[in-house]
Amino acid sequence: MQIIYHEQSRTFHLRNSVTSYIFRIIDPGYPVHLYYGKAIHDREDFDHLLEAAPRPMSVLIADDGSELSLEHLKLEYPVYGTGDMRPPALDIRASNGSRLLDLRYESHRITEGKPGIPGLPAVYCDDSSEAMTLQIRLKDAKTGLAVILNYTVTEYAPAMMRSAEIINEGTQEIVLEHAMSLSLDLPDRDYDMIMLTGAWARERSVKRNPLHEGAQSISSMRGFSSPHFNPFIALCRKNCTETEGEVTGLSFVYSGNFLAEAYCDTYDTVRLRMGIHPDTFKWHLAPQASFHTPEAVLAYSCTGLNGMSQIFHKLYAERLVRGYWRGRPRPVLLNNWEATYFDFDEAKLLGIAAEAKKLGIELFVMDDGWFTNRRNDRSGLGDWEYDPERFPYGLGHYTEAIRDMGMMAGIWIEPEMVSPGTKIFREHPDWVIHEEGRPMHPGRHEYVLNFADPDVVQYIFEKLDRLLSEGGFDYVKWDMNRSMSDVFAASLPHQDELMHRYILGVYSLYERLIRKYPKTLFESCASGGGRFDPGMLYYAPQCWTSDDTDAYERQKIQYGTSMVYPVSSMGSHVSAVPNHQLGRTVSLKTRAETAYFGTFGYEMDVSKMTEDEKEQTRRHIAFMKANRQLLQFGTFWRLKSPFESNETVWMTVSEDKTEAVVAYYRCLQQINRGFRRIRLAGLDPDRLYHVSELEIDVYGDELMHTGLILSDGSGGERVSGTDFLSRLYMLRAVS
Ligand code: DGJ
Repeated sequence: MQIIYHEQSRTFHLRNSVTSYIFRIIDPGYPVHLYYGKAIHDREDFDHLLEAAPRPMSVLIADDGSELSLEHLKLEYPVYGTGDMRPPALDIRASNGSRLLDLRYESHRITEGKPGIPGLPAVYCDDSSEAMTLQIRLKDAKTGLAVILNYTVTEYAPAMMRSAEIINEGTQEIVLEHAMSLSLDLPDRDYDMIMLTGAWARERSVKRNPLHEGAQSISSMRGFSSPHFNPFIALCRKNCTETEGEVTGLSFVYSGNFLAEAYCDTYDTVRLRMGIHPDTFKWHLAPQASFHTPEAVLAYSCTGLNGMSQIFHKLYAERLVRGYWRGRPRPVLLNNWEATYFDFDEAKLLGIAAEAKKLGIELFVMDDGWFTNRRNDRSGLGDWEYDPERFPYGLGHYTEAIRDMGMMAGIWIEPEMVSPGTKIFREHPDWVIHEEGRPMHPGRHEYVLNFADPDVVQYIFEKLDRLLSEGGFDYVKWDMNRSMSDVFAASLPHQDELMHRYILGVYSLYERLIRKYPKTLFESCASGGGRFDPGMLYYAPQCWTSDDTDAYERQKIQYGTSMVYPVSSMGSHVSAVPNHQLGRTVSLKTRAETAYFGTFGYEMDVSKMTEDEKEQTRRHIAFMKANRQLLQFGTFWRLKSPFESNETVWMTVSEDKTEAVVAYYRCLQQINRGFRRIRLAGLDPDRLYHVSELEIDVYGDELMHTGLILSDGSGGERVSGTDFLSRLYMLRAVS
């Protein structure tokens, strides 16, 4: 990993073993992009890459015969108004109403390591030798606005991080109308765009469409990243598959409103932009104040989508997730939500817990309903006092009983929301996001607290601090169940800042709690996987992947989620059948073999299981415990997509390549099918592996090139059985 500066040509070359990122400063001081892609040789200048053909009707930088136009150069951080006609990265309004900016290079700094971003989640390094950072300082002479562009390149997981700091060094207020984290101009548009779309209970389906002229974008304006569009896009070449071809992924380390866009001009170039959604954002920058954009992460791979995903997985599992739970196998948990919903008390929970313990469960989680006035989802959020009717001896008594059984204790909260009728709602109506004199629009019968107000965050912190210290909880599920509407807070002078300030408030509460309770495991949740984004992973190492617990649907959801997020971050549970969301019945074996590829747990009343089911469950939990290091922290490969066929195949390989587990899932059974084999990936070609189920010893290169035989060769299936079948193949190196 290197950041090279060629002084004569004013060229920067940022490099790791996989990629090169090259740009230069051209007169009169504009940073112009030259190349991003597979690592290439360095040279004194790359000026031959400056495509500057004169084009009629273009606005020129100067009338000096050079014919250079900002519209046709590839720009590092484009602004509105000085000749570039594409969507800008930065758009401002000065005190005289002008939107014009002329940002010119002033200086740069190259340092080891990577600075954090104040108040925001960001990739970090353990040791400054893991990363190098380039900071380019630009300035607009007229307004005094300075911009620092941050570029960090890492070798650890070969990615690049970009963000910007915008500083008002002038004497008048400046309003930021757009402040993107990243803008990247690419020289052609022969790409497909991949995105992860969905809705409640069907999060992160993989969608792939060819780029076309004009803008194509995904976004959220709901106040959170949303299950509808995940803050991620990738541009891949037409021939790119899971294991071959070129792809560039962009992921946004932020949990609020976002925009991710590919804009193709009519000269066949493409501009990628990623940042806070400009339609719900403005920022008033007083003299001497500065604004930090969130961070965008670029991951380039020329070995297909798996290559890109594996960069994100490593980076996010090891350099975004922090603290005690980083790299630590996750406890097998039981959550009582689908077991009881709101109908529980201490005695009932302890009954289920006793049975759970016998099966091998390590963490017992009490979900929604433990607090006063919470018999259903219409009331109770905000006061965070336990319900004495359900817990006659107090919460401490309950958690002690769980501990005495030899398990950890977990609790559910939804700290950002409030129900009408609660003490906090009555005493502090002004703490609820709404505009006086207009109707308030409920979502799941609840309203949003103004986390942009530090007093609100302080109040909730005190409540939760008491809860966690008195209850002694080892795990917290932090839920969030509605989109934001009625976006107004009388206490705030600038309403356009509310949604970003809200997310900063959420982050600040998380930060205070994780600092005070560093060993507590946080799991984020938003009606399932509605806020499954990198920003959350900085605070909560795992996220409830979806409220849909049906195993077949989960194969799709986990497949899509794995495009960016590591297996260790995906909350995945075995639930009862018929499944509560879809009414589908899938075998206990397939349910477990799907949930293994995640944090693993149960979401059902295990005391109602038959003896045979309990016996199977004991074996499943023992299997997970024996293999969770491999399953949660091995290198994950997607091999066959449920979005494209009747089958799903994925596998995980240990770091030293001595072990692997391949999971095969078949949706519907078919009669007299053709032959089936699947090429594996990531194995050591020279090692001999014993393959369970087939009970044969085969070399890694055979498994990766001839493939793993799934059919028995006689038209029937080795993997016999009926619909929603699964099979695990365990691979152990024998030489
Ligand atoms: C939505 C979550 O996704 C569920 O798992 C559960 O915690 C409910 N909320 C509780 O209200």
